[in-house]
Amino acid sequence: MKKRVTKAIFPVAGKGTRFLPATKSVPKEIMTLVDRPLIQYAIDEARAAGIKEFIFVTSRGKSALEDYFDHSPDLENTLRKAGKDDLLETLKSTNMDSGAIAYIRQHKALGLGHAVWCARRLIGNEPFAVILPDDVIAGQTPCLQQMVEAHAETGGCMVAAMEVQRDKTSSYGVLDGHGEMGSSFPVSGMVEKPNPQDAPSNLAVIGRYILTPDIMRNLSRIKTGSGGEIQLTDAIAAEIDEEREVFGYQFRGERFDCGSKAGFLQATVAFGLAREDLGAEFSNYLHDLMSTRRAAQ
Ligand code: UTP
Repeated sequence: MKKRVTKAIFPVAGKGTRFLPATKSVPKEIMTLVDRPLIQYAIDEARAAGIKEFIFVTSRGKSALEDYFDHSPDLENTLRKAGKDDLLETLKSTNMDSGAIAYIRQHKALGLGHAVWCARRLIGNEPFAVILPDDVIAGQTPCLQQMVEAHAETGGCMVAAMEVQRDKTSSYGVLDGHGEMGSSFPVSGMVEKPNPQDAPSNLAVIGRYILTPDIMRNLSRIKTGSGGEIQLTDAIAAEIDEEREVFGYQFRGERFDCGSKAGFLQATVAFGLAREDLGAEFSNYLHDLMSTRRAAQ
C-alpha cells in the first residue's frame, strides 16, 4: 500500500530581496493578503491535505514566524474578557499543537534544493510534501489536496504544473510532458529556466511538490546548478534519469506569484474582492477609481 503523505516542508529561508526594504525586518511569509500572512494560507492548504507534521526551513531574521505560530495567552485572555469570540476563533487557526511543528536552520541560502535537503533527518523514509508559501493558490479544492489524492493512485514524485506563456518559460522549471486540467501525467524531463526556444513545453512547475525520500539522496550528490544554487528541479530530474516515475499534476485553481510585487498586488485585489465582509465596498472603490482614471486620460 502507498504511504500517506503526512509531512510537509516549508522552505522559508530565502532572503526575499524583491520586497526590500520591507523584508529587512519582516519575513516575506509574514506579509499579509488582506489580514492573513502568506504562511497561514500555506498551512491551511497543508492541513486540508491531511498534513500532520510541519517542517519549516528558516534562516536568521525569521523568528517572527515562530512567534506567529505560538500561543499568545495574554492576547487570548484579553479577547475572552472582552467577549470577542470571533477574534478568538480567528486566533485559534494560528495555534499549532506542541510537537507538530519543527524549525530547521539553513545557515546559507544555497538554494531551494539545499533548503529541502536541510530537513532530511526529519523526513526519514516517507513521501513528503514541499510547499512554497510564495505561491498562493486559490481554488475550490486546495491544490495540495488535489495532488495528495492523485498521488495515492500514482506514487512516485509529483510536481504541480501550470500553463504559462511561452515567453515566460525562463522564469520557471519547465516539464517535458503533456497534461490535462485536474489530472496527473508522466514527465519525461525537466529543465530549469529554459529560454522559450529550448523549453520542452509551456507547463511550468509551481511551488507544490510531493517527493519520495530518494530526492534527499539525490540532493546529497547534486552540485550547484542554475543561478549558482542547488536546484530542487535537478534532484527531481535525476529521478527521471534513473527511470523512477515523476508526474506532473495540472491543478485546478488560480495561482498568484506572491514572491513578486505585481503578483502580490494581484492577489491582494483578488482576495479582497472575494471577502464577504469587504468585497462589495472594495469593488465599488476599484470601479470608481478606474472610472476616474479613464475619464482623466
Ligand atoms: P525565491 O527564489 O523566491 O527566493 O525562493 P527568495 O530569497 O525567497 O526571494 P527573492 O528572489 O530574493 O526576492 C523560492 C522559495 O525557496 C525558499 C524561499 O524562502 C522561497 O520560499 N528558499 C530559497 C530557501 O528556503 N532557501 C534558499 O536558499 C533559497
